[in-house]
Amino acid sequence: MKIVRVGVVGLGTMGAGIAQVCLQAGFEVVGREVEPEHGERARERIDHYLARGVEKERLTQDEKDAALGRLTLTTELADLADCQLVIEAAFEDLAVKRELFGELDRIAPPPAILATNTSALSVTQIADATQTPERVVGMHFFNPAPVLPLVEVVRTARTSDEAFETAFAFAQQLGKEPVACNDTPGFIVNRILIPLLNDCVRVLDEARVSPEDVDRAMRFGVNWPIGPCALIDLIGIDVHVHASEALHGALGEERMAPPERLLEMQREGNLGRKTGQGFFTYD
Ligand SMILES: NC(=O)c1ccc[n+]([C@@H]2O[C@H](COP(=O)([O-])OP(=O)(O)OC[C@H]3O[C@@H](n4cnc5c(N)ncnc54)[C@H](O)[C@@H]3O)[C@@H](O)[C@H]2O)c1
Repeated sequence: MKIVRVGVVGLGTMGAGIAQVCLQAGFEVVGREVEPEHGERARERIDHYLARGVEKERLTQDEKDAALGRLTLTTELADLADCQLVIEAAFEDLAVKRELFGELDRIAPPPAILATNTSALSVTQIADATQTPERVVGMHFFNPAPVLPLVEVVRTARTSDEAFETAFAFAQQLGKEPVACNDTPGFIVNRILIPLLNDCVRVLDEARVSPEDVDRAMRFGVNWPIGPCALIDLIGIDVHVHASEALHGALGEERMAPPERLLEMQREGNLGRKTGQGFFTYD
């Protein structure tokens, strides 16, 4: 099946980034948000990042105009009927995603592929809300989607080879670096990274080290390009806590539970870069 038109459900941080990547790779995108203003905000964000690309001579003005011309916004899921692939990037909530997939199953008939960008939910449980779980995959992009090359392409026990291979090839067409993965909690990166980052946070209190020094230790001792505290600030304290709780709930290892220090930062509204204050202060 040739993919020409891609539906993106939810145009928040991830959905807008995924839509941008698809547009830049030459695909038509139908973006669905719950309110028209949310969709317009996403279009403005994509416009802004593409304009920066033009300034930096990564694309021409004509290419930018053509990319934006391929974007259609809607609040109606029914407008995704003629998409060959739908990527869902709505709220990280199983009930929301199951309801969406139940509707998408009726609206976008096979062989269209239905993909979820969930970070921490079970793709199998999402697929079970459809009558056609063989065409459901995970396509887990990383934030910011236009910048980070990895896409974890996740298959459940019921995903067909055809759906999986089409999704994998599509990620390659986007210029991404897809990695195949089975539907297990945290997939690859979060399964490894979340407990590791939580350990870094625990070291702050156990060894009485400053965030600056933990970051220096991991940058200069392990050659990490960014320190763990700066990375959690970038991810967002709330996003990291949510993913930690999900992983802890699924696998039960103590290291996966969010450290008290992060819960406190969340209660105080210090969510990292997006609020200007996390482990570090941002302008
Ligand atoms: N933020 C990250 O670092 C990151 C990374 C990888 C994956 N994810 C996953 O991507 C998904 C979206 O996360 P986000 O950070 O972009 O969240 P976000 O809150 O920025 O965006 C979610 C968007 O979905 C919209 N939405 C909610 N319900 C909807 C519905 N029924 N139909 C259409 N739109 C709906 C909201 O209006 C909002 O704009 C989640 O599953 C999350 O786990 C997030």
